[in-house]
Amino acid sequence: MSSTPRGRFISLEGLDGAGKSTHLHWLTRHLTAQGIDHLVTREPGGTPLGEKLRELLLHDAMDLETEALLMFAARREHLVQVIEPALAAGRWVVCDRFTDATYAYQVGGRGLPVDKFRSLEQWVQGRGETLIEPDLTLLFDVPLAVSRARLADARSPDRFEREADAFFERVRNAYHDRAAEAQGRIRIVDASRDIEVIQHELAAIFTERGVG
Ligand code: TYD
Repeated sequence: MSSTPRGRFISLEGLDGAGKSTHLHWLTRHLTAQGIDHLVTREPGGTPLGEKLRELLLHDAMDLETEALLMFAARREHLVQVIEPALAAGRWVVCDRFTDATYAYQVGGRGLPVDKFRSLEQWVQGRGETLIEPDLTLLFDVPLAVSRARLADARSPDRFEREADAFFERVRNAYHDRAAEAQGRIRIVDASRDIEVIQHELAAIFTERGVG
């Protein structure tokens, strides 16, 4: 008896203003063109409860550890209700941010101690000996000045987007540290280049992985 092959889990990461949304649209068009059944979702969010938590996280003042715990609470719901069933059914999951964002924003940006996050990650994502995590993470990297300039044009900024430059500098450095630790899973894409050049590179990454 043959079982359905598990779908692949792809996450997109980067500073606010790195152009993630544009690349996400390209990616879903690309997967559709290749006939790959996929689900697009986001964090925090992705479930009715998660979207309520997102509203709170993006707009309500709160203790920083509460913020971290709510990120993982939303993630747990998202994994159990949406991500794991989709992957098990053979669908691909394209997620706008996942746990790398927590390491970048809450550990890097907010400066919370990393050890607690390793325990939370294990609690929420641990399944026996393994940890559920993306098969591939595209990290859209831009210098701080580019991210800030793009955000300046944005509609009313949320709690994170209102942070100072030093916060985003720490977030970016933390993303780079994660990428160095998770070589092979996290691909850094220089997102300050022209869009066509970036899309060409994305297509090459997928071809390399046997898609398209
Ligand atoms: P974002 O993904 O940038 O959405 P939009 O493009 O609609 O602004 O917004 C989510 C914000 O949440 C972003 O500023 C990063 C933050 N965030 C964390 O701080 N930790 C996390 O674990 C996640 C998933 C997001």
